[in-house]
Amino acid sequence: MSAAPALPPEALEPGQLRRALGSFAAGVTVVTTQLDGQLVGTTVSAFSALSLDPPLVLACLKRDSRTLAAVRQTAAFCVNILCAEQGELAHAFAKSGCDDRFALTAVEAGVTGAPLLAGCATHIECDLHAVHDGGDHEILVGRVLRVVVDEAKTPLVYVRGRFLT
Ligand SMILES: Cc1cc2nc3c(=O)[nH]c(=O)nc-3n(C[C@H](O)[C@H](O)[C@H](O)COP(=O)(O)O)c2cc1C
Repeated sequence: MSAAPALPPEALEPGQLRRALGSFAAGVTVVTTQLDGQLVGTTVSAFSALSLDPPLVLACLKRDSRTLAAVRQTAAFCVNILCAEQGELAHAFAKSGCDDRFALTAVEAGVTGAPLLAGCATHIECDLHAVHDGGDHEILVGRVLRVVVDEAKTPLVYVRGRFLT
């Protein structure tokens, strides 16, 4: 079988790349932290397992994300893995300039102070292990301190710009 000719990088349109990457089904998380008593958080699908020993996970946040700036300061965050009924929450935490994202949900403080959103499939509480360059994003590597899993909840799945229901 002959391989398709490789395209030079300049031939790659951003829209094309977005569509291609959107074919990869992902879970949906809200990454949270608490800075000077303020709850901060945003929707993140670019989350991944990284290492079991030591226990590490990663999340990629846009360079201009307010949540990224807050996590850099607090050096701690919680990854709230949303369940299938929480699509509305995913939209609320993605709205730009929205200051009352936490109005839709109950929260409790986790071990780092970062808020745990009620009703999620899983919570992964981390301290900040490293930050790496990721082009127009930064890669937050978290060292996992504690996990809470609700096996009864079905995780939310995002693919091709929509939530699977
Ligand atoms: C389903 C979904 C997934 C998203 N995934 C990411 C992501 O992985 N990384 C990211 O930086 N933004 C992601 N966003 C966009 C952010 O949530 C959005 O830009 C938000 O306004 C950033 O808020 P902040 O500046 O308060 O942190 C996603 C949005 C949606 C709806």
